[in-house]
Amino acid sequence: MSESHWAPVDAYIEERLVTADTALETALSRATEAGIPAINVTAAQGKLLAMLVSVTGARRVLEIGTLAGYSTIWLARALPPDGTVITLEASREHAEVAVRNFATAGVANRVRLVEGAALDSLPRLADESAGPFDFVFIDADKVNNAAYLDWSVRLAKPGAVIVVDNVVRGGAVADPDSRDEGVLGARAAFDKVAEHPRLDGTAVQTVGSKGYDGFLIARVR
Ligand code: SAH
Ligand code: DHB
Ligand code: MG
Repeated sequence: MSESHWAPVDAYIEERLVTADTALETALSRATEAGIPAINVTAAQGKLLAMLVSVTGARRVLEIGTLAGYSTIWLARALPPDGTVITLEASREHAEVAVRNFATAGVANRVRLVEGAALDSLPRLADESAGPFDFVFIDADKVNNAAYLDWSVRLAKPGAVIVVDNVVRGGAVADPDSRDEGVLGARAAFDKVAEHPRLDGTAVQTVGSKGYDGFLIARVR
């Protein structure tokens, strides 16, 4: 069983339950035109993130890793009218496309993109009291996952939900001998949630049009 089996099911889920949307489609086609890799969440996953934001009643969202803003648009649309997303992106090229995509999707007024390496931006957000955040989506360079979790706890409200993307990596996460950077980053996220006194969590494996991967979902005590 592989992607050839899973992708049609994603197509079916999206056809039945995830409303097709021009702004989201435009966001992806602009990314492709700009040569940005198609490593965004799927539509079904984007809607899951949006539903988590709405069921938790989150008003302030932090995202680490914007790419072309596809996941950001899902998060922003799930917010109440006074809600905001702060999204951190290291690549100027990605940031420029993302900002255009926010305008097209009508969410520019509730999204603030902070350009630069997230480990530089996060201390600045702390200094300016940008939080506290109710929801965090961590989806950037995997080697820094543990540091991003530490910052997220620091910037989050008690009860906040943190989602970390790409923590299963085709199953390789279970290999204790792996030297792959992404696997090490995923395992570092599991270790951090296991050991942090203020974090509790679980992970769900996912299959679909983006292969075999998974989300780690944690809650701040
Ligand atoms: N959340 C997006 C996908 C993000 S892909 C979506 O689902 O639509 C990962 C992004 O993280 C890339 O755009 C990459 O440029 C960015 N990134 C990588 N290292 C980073 C860092 N140190 N700080 C901030 N962003 C980083
Ligand atoms: C990669 C990054 C992601 O955030 C993702 O969802 C898939 C792939 C990557 O860097 O290859
Ligand atoms: Mg990802």
